Amino acid sequence: MEEILQAIKRSAIRIKQAIQNEDTGYTDNVNQTGDIQLKLDVQSDLIIEEELTKVSSIKELVSEEKEEIKKLNNNGKYLVGYDPLDGSSLIDVNLSVGSIFGIYENGYNGSDLSVSVYVVYGPRVELVIASKASDEVGMYRLLNNEFEFIKNIRLNEKGKLNAPGSTQSCWSTYHKQMIDELFQDGYRLRYSGGMVPDLHQILLKGGGLFSYPGTIDRPEGKLRKVFEVFPFALIYEKAGGASIDGINRVLDSTTTHIHGTMPCFFGSNYEIEYVKKTYTKNAK
Ligand code: AHG
Ligand code: MN
Ligand code: MN
Repeated sequence: MEEILQAIKRSAIRIKQAIQNEDTGYTDNVNQTGDIQLKLDVQSDLIIEEELTKVSSIKELVSEEKEEIKKLNNNGKYLVGYDPLDGSSLIDVNLSVGSIFGIYENGYNGSDLSVSVYVVYGPRVELVIASKASDEVGMYRLLNNEFEFIKNIRLNEKGKLNAPGSTQSCWSTYHKQMIDELFQDGYRLRYSGGMVPDLHQILLKGGGLFSYPGTIDRPEGKLRKVFEVFPFALIYEKAGGASIDGINRVLDSTTTHIHGTMPCFFGSNYEIEYVKKTYTKNAK
């Protein structure tokens, strides 16, 4: 596992350099989810693949930017799912972006996830790690080309931020009402459109709610289970918060397709309980 974490750290340093120095334009390709790939999406994917390929304990890789699973070492123990550059459409406006990694064993279900890591490329580069085996969520910062431990992250029982994702005109009436009620209760809007910085902000400011619901146009939401939703669910749970699909725990969800998506809510306990109550009462 330590070797995988080292490879992720090397990838993060290289991706940071690529973001700073390389072309921010698009390629002519569309990925599995239907997004037009940026040159930086492809480049970040290659950097991570190159670094993870050096690790003999990895059995296979699966990336948001690759249609198929890439087999590495048949005797390897770990399966690594990753989103090389999350929020990449924000690159051209110079907002923060990130990379997300889920390190799985045996399969790609929520219950198979052992370790989650994400990296935020903002004014500073920060990396957050959570493991199924520990109750601490560690935050590290890139200082002089090394990741140094800064602190453990812990959510409060109730927060102040509300990050409501997806297209409002496609929300259900009860979802809209729930989001409105949070604002009436004093919550502040914080939504950049990058899952990594938006969830990082809620974690570091003590709590709140990030939602990406199922909608009329996208009943299964937009965010991908293996590369985005499961890794953050482990981080939020270990930080003392929770993550549900509206009613059920995200990490109890199974994967039938590696690029599959699901509705998701991440937050501190108070807000997640509120979502659960609303959805249990209203969802069919
Ligand atoms: P990606 O750049 O990897 O395709 O992911 C973008 C995701 C996520 O970061 C964000 O929360 C969400 O898309 C934003 O979607 P909307 O534009 O629908 O708000
Ligand atoms: Mn993403
Ligand atoms: Mn991406």
